[in-house]
Amino acid sequence: MKAVICKDFAPYQNLSVEEVEDPKAGPGQVIVDIKAAGVNFPDILLVEGKYQMKPPLPFIPGGEVAGVVETVGEGVAGFKPGDRVVAATLLDGFAEKAAVAASQVAPIPDVMPFEEAAALITTYATTIHALKQRAELKDGETLVVLGAGGGVGTAACQLGKAYGARVIACARGEEKLATAKQAGADELVDYDAEDLKARLKELTSGKGADVVYDAVGGAYSEPAMRALGWGGRFLVIGFAAGDIPKMPLNLALLNSRDIRGVFWGAWAGQFPKENGANMAELFELYVAGKIKPMVSASYPLEDVTKAFDDLMARRVKGKVVLTA
Ligand SMILES: NC(=O)c1ccc[n+]([C@@H]2O[C@H](COP(=O)([O-])OP(=O)(O)OC[C@H]3O[C@@H](n4cnc5c(N)ncnc54)[C@H](OP(=O)(O)O)[C@@H]3O)[C@@H](O)[C@H]2O)c1
Repeated sequence: MKAVICKDFAPYQNLSVEEVEDPKAGPGQVIVDIKAAGVNFPDILLVEGKYQMKPPLPFIPGGEVAGVVETVGEGVAGFKPGDRVVAATLLDGFAEKAAVAASQVAPIPDVMPFEEAAALITTYATTIHALKQRAELKDGETLVVLGAGGGVGTAACQLGKAYGARVIACARGEEKLATAKQAGADELVDYDAEDLKARLKELTSGKGADVVYDAVGGAYSEPAMRALGWGGRFLVIGFAAGDIPKMPLNLALLNSRDIRGVFWGAWAGQFPKENGANMAELFELYVAGKIKPMVSASYPLEDVTKAFDDLMARRVKGKVVLTA
């Protein structure tokens, strides 16, 4: 089969696409014939050796796939060849096939296209965990989303609306803000052109927001934190801007604010039952028409570096996927 191979922790331009042996289903595994794989910012961090964990080399990157079950290994119950599924793989997804533990595989609704299914896992699972378990977002609260036109950002706009929040989307430029609007945002702030703190205060009539969802970091985090009201929760999702901000702790003291870290992958490993319930809820929300992954571009496996270029150049509106 064809697969993207990472031989060294190096700039992603060094990735190659090669013919490798087909995977075999071990006990408890299924082979997924991959139709689409979601591309996420952490994939770049992984191949460049900048992620929290470093896989042994060489490896196939790609953390989420959608496709059809080809074969099932010994001891697997609940799946059969031909089933349409998604799988959280962490690695091995940018290939034509992958061997995946059956516990990481879930059936998808018949109405769901593979490209949307592949785009539903990391971004939406991270965001539902962030908004439910970490922020405890309530109906009627105000949610500020930084990086609102990107992968996790569009998921946060959609899920925030599904949970009854007023969503203020912050992003750079008209196109990204239009994407956030399409994802359901109520208010739009261009954080490159406007004073972020002042605008957020204005939009909340001086009271401040209830929750900030920060997937960007850099220079945007502190003004957003300063715009949180009494009892506000600041969600640390990621640092797409590159810089990890240092926050003055008096900002937590002043308005009785909380800074809450979100690490979906580690949480899902420790709490598989709760993560399974979140995933089931995501599929229900999808079927009910309340969420819909926004796929702005789709590339063949050979063009994996183009997909990464789009992410690095801040061009991705919603999600980009690879098709096998
Ligand atoms: N905590 C978790 O469990 C978890 C799970 C998944 C992802 N993440 C993290 O969340 C972050 C976003 O991931 P994503 O897949 O949503 O990425 P994405 O689609 O690229 O979105 C990130 C957004 O950040 C903004 N940005 C600002 N400066 C940037 C820069 N220098 N380079 C790239 N983007 C920049 C861009 O919006 P504008 O151009 O509008 O500013 C972009 O839309 C990443 O740091 C990722 O590692 C965390």
